[in-house]
Amino acid sequence: MLEYQEEYEENILFSGLKEQGLISPFSVERYSYEPKIRLGILASGNGSNFEHIIKSIKNKKLNAEITILIVNNPNCLAIRKAIEYDIPYEIINHRECNSRQEHDKLVMKKLDDLSVELVVMAGWMRIVGEELINKYENRLINIHPSLLPSFKGVDAIKQAMDNKVTITGCTVHYVQKEVDSGSIIIQAAVPVKDRDSKETLTKRVQDMEHIILPLAIGKVANKLRNRFMDNK
Ligand code: GRF
Repeated sequence: MLEYQEEYEENILFSGLKEQGLISPFSVERYSYEPKIRLGILASGNGSNFEHIIKSIKNKKLNAEITILIVNNPNCLAIRKAIEYDIPYEIINHRECNSRQEHDKLVMKKLDDLSVELVVMAGWMRIVGEELINKYENRLINIHPSLLPSFKGVDAIKQAMDNKVTITGCTVHYVQKEVDSGSIIIQAAVPVKDRDSKETLTKRVQDMEHIILPLAIGKVANKLRNRFMDNK
């Protein structure tokens, strides 16, 4: 046994990290920028991350205002959350557009009209083009269910299981042209257990997503506010 192993194990048990995994960089600091950051949320799926952003705002852990939820899929469950929490939403159905550019333009117009400052892809299952990425440089972030740069693209949790990794997780990163490749803002790791099914592992990863996405939004918002202050 290593000299410090006992102490190490004890620390892990007492800190409760054994089951929770690891968040890095982790900070309990609440950013105190003013005024609230104006968010635009893009979603295509169940909207559980969207809901956790709402809850963080309600609990005063995040100084933000959701100006709009934009969905590309008229049947996605995120819409129900918007209705439940009384948040404005807009369906911009990509199937009704002739090209990616046309869809992106409609999304950009909406974000622009509402003076959105920070755009959050919270389960947005569409690639966006360069014009949108450039317009929102340093103001467009995405959450991905793997420890990037591993397992980019679709079905990241299945990829992790197929590769028999014993640790996986989730990443919030800036969006750039190459998919799931922009610089990393925050990551969380979770164990992959022998008895895991795709569902149990997805739940473990998503529980961490719900923690790190609001943290990342606060961090980026704080940076944006400070950047604007610097320019004054
Ligand atoms: C999340 O796992 C996210 O990482 C991925 O899509 C999923 C969206 O889940 N990009 P939800 O719609 O927030 O519940």
